Order: sequence, then C-alpha cells, then structure tokens
Amino acid sequence: MNSYEHYADWLNARNGLPKETRIGLVPTMGALHTGHKSLLEKARRENDFLVLSIFVNPTQFNDLNDYQHYPRTLESDRRIAEECNVDALLIPSEKDMYPYGNDMPIITHHPASQIMEGKVRPGHFNGVLTVVMKLLQWAKPTCVYFGEKDFQQYLLICELVKNYFLDVEVIGCETMREASGLPLSSRNQRFDSEQIKLAHRFAELLRSGSYDDLAAIQQRLEAAGLIVEYLEKHFGRLFVAVECHGIRLIDNFAV
Ligand code: PAF
Repeated sequence: MNSYEHYADWLNARNGLPKETRIGLVPTMGALHTGHKSLLEKARRENDFLVLSIFVNPTQFNDLNDYQHYPRTLESDRRIAEECNVDALLIPSEKDMYPYGNDMPIITHHPASQIMEGKVRPGHFNGVLTVVMKLLQWAKPTCVYFGEKDFQQYLLICELVKNYFLDVEVIGCETMREASGLPLSSRNQRFDSEQIKLAHRFAELLRSGSYDDLAAIQQRLEAAGLIVEYLEKHFGRLFVAVECHGIRLIDNFAV
C-alpha cells in the first residue's frame, strides 16, 4: 500500500494506472472501525484498485470542540487499510486539501439539507459537499462508497453528483450495528465502559414498540436520560439524533 499526502504525487501514480482500471474510493475521516471495513471490503470486491482517504475535514464541524476531540488514530487506521488490501491511502493535510483556503465552498439550498442535521448543524453539509467534491476531483474514482448511517449525507452527495454531472457512481452501504442495534461509529470510542450502556439502551429503546407514535418514543428516550435533538420521519425512514453523556449519536432506518 502506498500513501500520498500531496495531490501531485498521487496524480502521478493515478496516471500510471491502465485507462480502464475501475477505481473504488472510500472517503473517511479515519478512526476506522468494522463499519468502515465493510465499506472497504465491498469496494475491494467491486473494483480493480482500492483508494481510502483519511481527512478530518474542519469545514464540516460547526463546533470547534467536536473537531478538536475527533479521534485521530492513523497508526491503527493504516493497519486496517493493509488488512483490507487498500492500494492507495490518501492522507492530505488541511493545506493540501484547502491550499487556497475555503473561498470556493459548495453551498447547498437543497430541501434535504435544511432539515435534521442541516438544521442543528448549520453549514455542516456545505463543508461535507465541498470536501467530497475535492476528494472526487483528487481521486477521480469510478465508484465512491458511503455508509447509510449518514443517510442525509448520502442523499445530498447523490444530488451533488447529479447537479454537477460528475462521472462517478455513488454506492450507499447498509449500516453495521452492534447486537443491541447501536450503529458502529467512530464516536462510540469516546464512551467509557459505563457510558456505553446508555448508548446500547438508546438503540434498544428505539426498537421497542411502534414507530407511529413519535412522541411516545421520545418520552422513552428522555426517561432513560437521553437528550433528544430530533426524531423525525422522512424518505420512508425514521431519523434520530440524541445526546448521550455529552456525545452525539445519530441513527436512521427504514420504517
Ligand atoms: O462520512 C464521513 O466520514 C465524512 O462526512 C466524509 C464523507 C468523509 C467527508 O468528510
């Protein structure tokens, strides 16, 4: 596996690949877990050349504290990348990704960007779409893979690709979960062994009972000690964001 920090070095390597090579890109912010592994495994099966990018994107965090505390685990990420037979690891610095600052962001007014994550994290999707556009221009993949845990993000990236006529196939991958139903997430690593129990309880409570009465679900979650940010149905799915011991958890699934 080769690692690339700078666009020029990676471009050189990419230009050396045969023209018809199917390139699969898995964009991440690192802190890789089993959920990322399943994306990498799928992308490995479906492509000739597998690219993993790791970049903790500052422009998508609207809370500096969240950005500063985002887990950075490059050494273990490298091991996972090797295990998953990644061919190229892209690890740009902020200077490499934003050499001219953030003067040309993608600004979305898409209705799906104005609700839920878009509403509680103003500017978040502008940052996501900007960096995804940059990563797609860097890697120039045939296919790009995203987890459905961030379903709103996945949906908006599909819209980005359509709106800018980007020549890439966007593939959504099912959320990987713990036995309790808790989605795998880099943020789960921030809980200690006591705190994680409430995170599992959150997943269990979401799955107990009917999905018709959202007020009743909200009551159950709050009674357990979770702070509910939103609990809404859209696109045939239930979406939820809660605060659990000061850490944000999100989930969504078809109902
Ligand atoms: O889902 C993520 O990890 C990030 O939002 C992404 C798509 C890598 C952009 O920074």
